[in-house]
Amino acid sequence: MKTLVEDIAETYTPHVIIVGGTSGLGLALALHHQMLGWQVSVVGSSAAKIADINSQHPAIVTYVCDLTDPSQTQTLLDSLSDISFQRLIYSAGSYTNERIHHLNQADSDQMLAINLQAFEQVFRWASSQLKQQLKQSHQALDLTGSDRTSLICIASIAGTIDYPYASLYAKSKRAMITTASAYRAALVSYDIQVNCIASGYIDTQALRDLNDGDARHKPFIMGKQTAVHHIMQAIDDDVELAIFPRSMRYITSALNHLPKLVLNWILRSKLDKAK
Ligand SMILES: NC(=O)c1ccc[n+]([C@@H]2O[C@H](COP(=O)([O-])OP(=O)(O)OC[C@H]3O[C@@H](n4cnc5c(N)ncnc54)[C@H](OP(=O)(O)O)[C@@H]3O)[C@@H](O)[C@H]2O)c1
Repeated sequence: MKTLVEDIAETYTPHVIIVGGTSGLGLALALHHQMLGWQVSVVGSSAAKIADINSQHPAIVTYVCDLTDPSQTQTLLDSLSDISFQRLIYSAGSYTNERIHHLNQADSDQMLAINLQAFEQVFRWASSQLKQQLKQSHQALDLTGSDRTSLICIASIAGTIDYPYASLYAKSKRAMITTASAYRAALVSYDIQVNCIASGYIDTQALRDLNDGDARHKPFIMGKQTAVHHIMQAIDDDVELAIFPRSMRYITSALNHLPKLVLNWILRSKLDKAK
């Protein structure tokens, strides 16, 4: 006769919530988790993208929420509070050709809100939810490996270079990297894994849209499936900060070893906005 724990383990389907899972990398991660047998929920603000997912992938549960509005975000989080989940991925992000076009007030507000403020709101909520859930069930199921309870955020390789002339995008992703590292240190005693992903260019529609429909000229650009593979590997290996592709990791690491004055001069002359 099976024990209660064996019965629970047998019927157990892990659940992932992907905030910013309605397109691009987030949707690719959603579909990958679904293929692995996870129950998947995604969050995004575009009603059109949600309608597409509802018709093409009816098993994925969708939530509409504009993350730039903290009270709307809180309402969403409250409505998710009764649902158990084992992994949350924060993939929502806002980026633009900041080095070519000066950001206006609305663009700056939006970038800060999505890349940093909503991320903090969601991570704070998710970590407290996971702690509560763990009290009730984790010990019984003894989750390991890829099913281990985890918080994941998608930063960018842009956030790994430390220099004052960085863009708002790079600075907000840098703050995300540091925040994730603090959560990792705080949650280790709860056996909750926290991983931050700092990838180079990924060939998504959003990046193509910013580059007149074709982003193939971007250095070391990779396909979405390659990025998903790197991310899943980083989660399985519990890498604190996964930086890829390797070529970009070497370049950013070399840049970080330069004297700050030289680094500033190089990046300023390379990245300066068009007059
Ligand atoms: N593509 C790259 O080269 C690259 C490189 C490094 C890091 N990244 C990071 O990877 C992540 C995904 O990028 P991507 O290229 O896949 O772009 P994407 O397709 O535009 O994905 C962004 C996601 O964020 C959601 N989102 C944006 N604004 C939102 C808002 N106000 N409220 C709720 N959700 C919102 C979008 O959903 P809705 O449109 O439905 O709102 C979408 O699901 C971003 O964090 C980006 O910074 C991308």
